[in-house]
Amino acid sequence: MEKLKLRGMARSVAAIASSLVVLFVTHFLSIEAFAQYTKKTVVAHRGASAYAPEHTLEAYRLAIEQGADYVEEDLQITKDGVLVCLHDLTLERTTNVEEVFPHRYRQVERHGVTEKHWFIFDFTLEEVKQLDAGSWFDKRFAGAQIPTWQEAIQEIRGKAGLFPETKAPEVYGRHGFDMERLILAELEKNGLHQPGADPDTPVIIQSFSAESLRKMAFELKTRLPLVLLLGEGNKEWASPEGLKKVKEFAVGIGPAKSILRASPRLVEWAHNTGLSVTPYTFRSSAVGKGFWKVRAEMAYYLDTLDVEALFTDNPDQFPHK
Ligand code: G3P
Ligand code: CA
Repeated sequence: MEKLKLRGMARSVAAIASSLVVLFVTHFLSIEAFAQYTKKTVVAHRGASAYAPEHTLEAYRLAIEQGADYVEEDLQITKDGVLVCLHDLTLERTTNVEEVFPHRYRQVERHGVTEKHWFIFDFTLEEVKQLDAGSWFDKRFAGAQIPTWQEAIQEIRGKAGLFPETKAPEVYGRHGFDMERLILAELEKNGLHQPGADPDTPVIIQSFSAESLRKMAFELKTRLPLVLLLGEGNKEWASPEGLKKVKEFAVGIGPAKSILRASPRLVEWAHNTGLSVTPYTFRSSAVGKGFWKVRAEMAYYLDTLDVEALFTDNPDQFPHK
């Protein structure tokens, strides 16, 4: 009887040990393959931008409260060379620039129509700080400012990761700025330029521009993980051959969810190439066809399509396991 009991116990111990080995190996392999993620990951798109004005410290704070693993920052550059968090190249959609600086626009011809635009690179930081970046979203946020990236880093550091995007780097190149160098210098100033420098503040850099990422990888020799965003304008990368080329300079792709919907095998191709997949953008205000809630839509991409991470305006709706 005693012997039987002992044998049974030995079998249970062996079974537990082998499960632990399998778990360890799977976990290790998945980290090895997609070094920048260790679990299903939520990236707050422009902060918790469904609930607070995008790219304000208020939106970043809320994203952290809602459990974001990373907060994304779209980066632009002011006239005096300061990196600031702003999605558009122009100020009029998300600030009161037309009231504060009514004459500081440029006229741009588009499809035969003359448009007025207030470009961020025509304004110094001191001027940008005079703008209200909150009222357009809700009067409750009146007075919110466009943050410098440094201010954003200070707000987010230790509480979530940073996910900066180089926006229009070629435009800034024409204005005499080297966006990639500025970004890496700012990270270095904060001691965040090496992978793992601050385990509470991992950094991933993203761009739609393969050139921008190549420059960071090969010319500036960053070892930080780089993610190539894929949209309608550059979806030629979304093939097994294209992904092999992406792998030369990036660790992951960030496709528009419409691209994945049309071509779900992209995830398998990316994984076979050793690339992670972080689609954008999941939002309660524009839930994808066939889903009744953004949470269900995110769950489908995470569980059925098996993406590692995603960008969402609604971090509170992320289906944590
Ligand atoms: O960076 C992921 C997603 O934000 C890309 O689109 O235009 O919102 O920056 P956009
Ligand atoms: Ca972005």
